Amino acid sequence: MPASGAAPNAAMNAELLLTNVAQLVTPSGGGARRGPAMRALEITPDAAIAIAAGRIVWCGPRAEWLGSAARTIDAGGRAVVPGLVDPHTHLVWGGDRFADFEARASGVPYETILAGGGGIRHTVTATNASSEGMLLSSATARAMRMMASGTTTIEVKSGYGESWDGECRELHVIQALRSAIAARVHATMLFHLPPRDPAARTEYLERAVAEWIPAIARDRLATAVDVFIEREAFQPDDASQLLRAARQHGLAIKAHVDQFAAIGGLEAAIDLGALSVDHLEASGEHQIAALSASSTIGVILPGVTLHLGLPAAPGRALIDAGAAVAIGTDCNPGSSPVFSMCLALALAVRLNGLSPAEALTAATVNAASALGQSDVGRIAPGMRADLLVLRSADWRDLPYTLGADVVDRVFIAGTELS
Ligand code: NIG
Ligand code: FE
Repeated sequence: MPASGAAPNAAMNAELLLTNVAQLVTPSGGGARRGPAMRALEITPDAAIAIAAGRIVWCGPRAEWLGSAARTIDAGGRAVVPGLVDPHTHLVWGGDRFADFEARASGVPYETILAGGGGIRHTVTATNASSEGMLLSSATARAMRMMASGTTTIEVKSGYGESWDGECRELHVIQALRSAIAARVHATMLFHLPPRDPAARTEYLERAVAEWIPAIARDRLATAVDVFIEREAFQPDDASQLLRAARQHGLAIKAHVDQFAAIGGLEAAIDLGALSVDHLEASGEHQIAALSASSTIGVILPGVTLHLGLPAAPGRALIDAGAAVAIGTDCNPGSSPVFSMCLALALAVRLNGLSPAEALTAATVNAASALGQSDVGRIAPGMRADLLVLRSADWRDLPYTLGADVVDRVFIAGTELS
């Protein structure tokens, strides 16, 4: 089935024609794809894609292109898929977590390290000890590695600043990252860990609601607010206060839920109309039913299952129940040092039971929907020309191959990444 109708194109003048595409592969239809619709891909053999002003202006069987193009690129008989969208990363951090990694390898659980003042708190100390310049250059280098492996839109969370000043520094670094790289960057303010002292915690929540969240919206420091809801982090009631305030200020809301235990975070976030709930490793039947009955997107993060040895999020059960599922890397130093969306996508097939087609949808159009974006994640006229030329003529090499580059060329808004 063609990726687009054979619209008359004889009068079209494109800037670029990407041609000799063995398979043009895209999720069909826009918006979040739910349940069985996640398996619907359009595959056009021997295709071409015409691009102008950074957008796709035509795509379809190569023989049907009758327009002219200032420049032609031969895809060499390889498959082309949409650029991958990573809807969940913590790209700005200082220091490292190699000592945690070794401790965990000898059997110490992640939650025990965190409860003992290490883990995320260790990264908070190291991040606050780094200059903004250092944080920007390390985040830029990480983003470049992600882009080289096919990520063309990246969500980046703050969350290692802890204090308001620390979080603002991270948010400024994310704004600077936006101009430093070609990929589109979405900034999210993450409320990661509350102060441990109960009195300080109350004051923190009051100030977050009354001052910090309004400032984020006013100064456009982020477009979304996320809260880590977990036994060792924010409790559902506290998180609801933060998310409600975010919503009142026109910010999208997201939440880290059910990573270690299902303590009501998913239900609280869905009730408030969250754009996405992320993690879900400990989600059970009740959470699966609640998520699939909502318009919230479930973002699964298979890198965490691999790196921490947690149970896999119930991706298969969610899709079977009719939910919209997206995939992210959760790239961060503690729970998922995964940079490649190709790897996350491939792991979602092995660990979460997604079919290859569902995984492609989850890593493209559904991941875009988890960021509230409708102009990326598909190959169709009007979409941003974010495209990957694979090394193979068959797109299934993307979910299949592990540990080697499957992406040959990356185009972001029609410009090839050098
Ligand atoms: O998404 N779960 C909480 N936050 C991160 C981990 C951050 C860290 O360990 O540094 C996550 O997994
Ligand atoms: Fe995360």
